[in-house]
Amino acid sequence: MNEIPTIRVGILGFGTVGQGTWKHLHENANFWEKILGVRLVATRASVRKLDKDRKVPIPTEALTTDSLAIVNDPEIDLICELIGGVEEAKKLTLQAFANGKSVVTANKALICEHGNELFEAAERAGVQYAFEASVAGGIPIIKVLRESLVANEFPLIYGILNGTSNYILTRMETEGASFQEVLKDARELGYVEADESLDLDGIDAAHKAVILAYLAHGIWVDLKDITVEGISKISNADLDAAQKLGCKIKLIGVIRRNFENDHVSVAVYPALVPMAEIIARTDGVFNGISLTGSVVGTVVLTGRGAGQDPTAGSVISDLVDVVKGIRGINSSIKLLHVSPDQCKPAPAIEVTGCYYLRLSVDDRPGQLSKVAECLAEHAISLATVSQTPHGNNSPATLILTTHETNEHSIAQAMASLEELPGVEEPPVLFRMFDPDSNGE
Ligand code: HSE
Repeated sequence: MNEIPTIRVGILGFGTVGQGTWKHLHENANFWEKILGVRLVATRASVRKLDKDRKVPIPTEALTTDSLAIVNDPEIDLICELIGGVEEAKKLTLQAFANGKSVVTANKALICEHGNELFEAAERAGVQYAFEASVAGGIPIIKVLRESLVANEFPLIYGILNGTSNYILTRMETEGASFQEVLKDARELGYVEADESLDLDGIDAAHKAVILAYLAHGIWVDLKDITVEGISKISNADLDAAQKLGCKIKLIGVIRRNFENDHVSVAVYPALVPMAEIIARTDGVFNGISLTGSVVGTVVLTGRGAGQDPTAGSVISDLVDVVKGIRGINSSIKLLHVSPDQCKPAPAIEVTGCYYLRLSVDDRPGQLSKVAECLAEHAISLATVSQTPHGNNSPATLILTTHETNEHSIAQAMASLEELPGVEEPPVLFRMFDPDSNGE
């Protein structure tokens, strides 16, 4: 039997995202093997301190304080650069390319400052430099912009690119808490970057906006040439006043292109955003990006822009893409991520939910109890009942909602209700959508 090849991943930086990447690669090893035909294994990671308690279990011998040793280790095939910062990360990335290794990164500052040089070096070396996790954590914005929306030109891309500042503004707005109070909580929750200025002064959002501008328009904008403002000037009075104007104040990155002269402007600033915009209603640590494309119109993506699992998910998505490239796997043909016989259609009895019913019934004694009995025969319990009489012996409108039941029972109950004496028209049924229900 042929042995399954192994691709070994070295992780530089074993912080939040590094540990998440290690964890998901190991926990889902069989899955990667199934979709890639190789064993994709994280084997080494670099850390600042060897003797620190870590939530993700890792063998001591897999750890080193020497990132370069991982980059130069001939046993390591791919590198995840998750150390952050610029100069050391750049040296390690260039060395990895020189060693013929593709690099996956979440490092927005590095790409913002040296993206051009790094992309060219990767191209010369014939390797991949992948950075989905660098902008908006778990939101797949890079792939959407580069691949899914490739037929578009973009007069406007804007949105919330920093979760920490959005968390602070949301709590100030909803609770009337002061900037300093919420900042203290954000620090305790570990939301704020070690260099707080990155989050609070708009610099982190600006790094991401510069990357999006490059992907959309092929232009590298210099951070020092653009407007970058943070959230520290925003008071509770401003947030209240904005609300009265039908807006919310959000820290947004804005990338506009004038197609008459091809001028591109990039900026990050707090702005009053009308409540009608999904971005205005994107709250807490969430990020949101609105892309207006010449072909598609407006597409909005919202989701978790930071955090261990979402960001590690983006790192792994890049790793899988790189391995697919190495293995020559044609994604458009090999569509399925699971074996074709793994999933089965859910039987109606397992699809659960609550329902709304509208009946037209004879307005006479005992009719309501007949309807309730009919539903009870199918083990359906009523949650609310409301009847509107129409007078002159006309049928009354009966609106019912149910407690949780299932598609099988409600279908049977509907058939029985249709036959029930005193029910004048076929009953109307709507499902009460609940995104948290397992039945959906
Ligand atoms: N500090 C960043 C944020 C982390 O709050 O969005 C993700 O880049």
